[in-house]
Amino acid sequence: MSKNKKRILILPGDGIGPEVSVVAKKLLVLLDQKYSLDLEVSEGLLGGIAYDQTGDPLPKETLDKAKENEAILLGAVGGPKWDQISSEKRPEKGLLGMRSEFDFFANLRPAILSKELVSASTLKEEKVADLDLLIVRELTGGIYFGEPRGKVKGSEEVLNTMRYSKDEITRIGRVAFEAARKRSGKLCSVDKANVLEVSSFWRNTISDLSHEYPEVELSHMLVDNAAMQLVREPKQFDVIVTENLFGDILSDIAAMLTGSIGMLPSASLNDTNKGLYEPVHGSAPDIAGKDLANPLASILSVAMMMRYTFEEEKVALAIEQAVESVLALGQRTQDIAGKKDEVIGTIEMGQLVLKEIESN
Ligand code: IPM
Ligand code: MG
Repeated sequence: MSKNKKRILILPGDGIGPEVSVVAKKLLVLLDQKYSLDLEVSEGLLGGIAYDQTGDPLPKETLDKAKENEAILLGAVGGPKWDQISSEKRPEKGLLGMRSEFDFFANLRPAILSKELVSASTLKEEKVADLDLLIVRELTGGIYFGEPRGKVKGSEEVLNTMRYSKDEITRIGRVAFEAARKRSGKLCSVDKANVLEVSSFWRNTISDLSHEYPEVELSHMLVDNAAMQLVREPKQFDVIVTENLFGDILSDIAAMLTGSIGMLPSASLNDTNKGLYEPVHGSAPDIAGKDLANPLASILSVAMMMRYTFEEEKVALAIEQAVESVLALGQRTQDIAGKKDEVIGTIEMGQLVLKEIESN
């Protein structure tokens, strides 16, 4: 294994994951050739498919492989097939295990509305045109991971625990302040400080941190109000920072503002910029295997990978521009198609984006 190679592990996972990952893999091969990136791409098992083949949604072999790679590209995990198995073995556990094993605490979820897709949003054009916001979600703490959890022995009670340490809040806060500083200089921290002690602590910690970022204008918002404001006046936000569960919910709302969750990429980074990249959409078992899935979220996740882990901004921009160009030509998968649009499949959409990159 050469030291300077950029190593990428693809974990296609379940549902539409394998289909969109095939497109991403072809994209990586093309980028490698065109930009001499010296990529080394391999594949592994995660999620339901890993459980089926090994009895474990996050097999040791996958963890070992992931340690050897700077970037991991995930398709999607989960599906009704595995709904009945114990919570420890669920496909989602594989994903959560990856996040915590590598300390991917900083989850960046941009919600950008392509100008070609304004009509795909369920909101009025003037509310969403030019929408470009970033949700910074804390990903390895909070109620997702807090202990104690589970059934209380000898009782009919079940527990989950929301907890945060000052360090955990500070490090995600820094990521958000840095992002806000590079963007419009506006940061909104979302919590439930009127009810939860954890949230008051979150709010105080973020406020203290703000003294180090005088150029960033910080505001705080309660999560229920933030959910409402996101659909009422989404463009009031630029960067939002919030804890794990609130971020899970708010990022789905933000995604829908852009018309389709099928468009949105995400990056989950640790403090060495190693990253797990994944589409925000899930495994969509209802359309799996039918060549209906939108591969653009996966393609755009590769762009984020180029930007954050490999610091290849030029390559990232080339991918993003190619996606815009293909959309400008009127090409649509079913999730972003208007009534009059002709619909193309996963494979064709992938080919069009690749062709666009190739010819530029
Ligand atoms: C997400 C997903 C995951 C989460 C699931 C699949 C565990 O909804 O990435 O937003 O809740 O974090
Ligand atoms: Mg989610």
